[in-house]
Amino acid sequence: MVTRVLVTGAAGFIGGHVTRALLAAGHDVTALDAGHPAAHRGAPPATVGDVPVRAADLRDAGAVRDALTGVDAVVHQAAMVGMGVDLDDLPEYVGCNDLGTAVLLAQMARAGVRRMVLASSMVVYGEGGYACAAHGPVRPEPRRTADLEAGRFEPTCPRCAADLTPTLVDEEARLEPRSVYAATKLAQEHLCAVWTAACPGSVVALRYHNVYGPGMPRDTPYSGVAAIFRSALADGRAPRVFEDGRQRRDFVHVTDVAAANVAALAAGRPGFRAYNVASGSPTTIGAVATALARTTGGPAPEVTGGFRAGDVRHVVASPARAAAELGFRAAVDPATGLTDFAAAPLRP
Ligand code: UD1
Repeated sequence: MVTRVLVTGAAGFIGGHVTRALLAAGHDVTALDAGHPAAHRGAPPATVGDVPVRAADLRDAGAVRDALTGVDAVVHQAAMVGMGVDLDDLPEYVGCNDLGTAVLLAQMARAGVRRMVLASSMVVYGEGGYACAAHGPVRPEPRRTADLEAGRFEPTCPRCAADLTPTLVDEEARLEPRSVYAATKLAQEHLCAVWTAACPGSVVALRYHNVYGPGMPRDTPYSGVAAIFRSALADGRAPRVFEDGRQRRDFVHVTDVAAANVAALAAGRPGFRAYNVASGSPTTIGAVATALARTTGGPAPEVTGGFRAGDVRHVVASPARAAAELGFRAAVDPATGLTDFAAAPLRP
């Protein structure tokens, strides 16, 4: 069935892929983007997949109201992402991500648009899952600076301080945001959950794991590590791997993220429900750096032993719920996808 969809953040890295996938699936797309300087160094593209991009900030209620005319559902990708620079970024994160979402939800309710697919993030979990041999599943405390400075990167059992085994994080895990960005993504989820009950409406929240792929922006304080490593290699510099490089993540290809959005739109289940969007094949940051360096023929990674305040150690996803309920399974294995990404164009 053809759905008339408003895509927010349509000119961005993920939003662009989502827009093109929705068009390819036969949907009718209206594209909106604020062209935020954290995401775009210059002017954002005027069109995505031949659809003109309306330039508007979600905090502009009038512009949002106009963009919702004739729309059945919203696929909400617009957000300020990443670690940011410092706490001076805080108001803009909250403004873009939470006030923007609040304005969008209010205007959707007024316009009778009751369905949303929300771009959420695995950052809502904080640390991933862990098990202690003696105490079973546990949630470790944030790592102490003194431990990190001493090269003790693995979180320990909050009850007995023993070493832990990382486990798959599923959607029922406790949510514990550990950065400003993470707090704003969780607030988006909470606003959406309240909205679905009040409307009543439907929101499918897709918790993206570490997204990479062609068209990823070059490195900025708001970029993910894959773009940072690629940008370093493109400049002839070695990728700088923090900690000991053994921290684990799930790298999911942007075309799979786009496919998950198409599947979520089709699901249209009532109420609020969250899903991990992941490849199901976790890897270490050191292995990603090595694969990219080897494929580009660039300098070998430098494992610095340094660390970023607030970083989590391992986040490894269970993709089971998205497979069972949305029929979504990632098609691109990171071993292949990261090799291709080494040669893919970055966005300037
Ligand atoms: C990332 C994104 C987050 C997104 C989430 C899920 C950023 C900054 N983070 O969180 O927005 O929601 O994935 O898709 O965009 N690292 C290095 N060298 C570097 C930079 C980072 O070794 O130059 C390490 C970090 O210390 C960390 C790992 O790489 O251990 C991943 O970092 P990052 O890409 O920022 O991702 P997440 O924190 O996992």
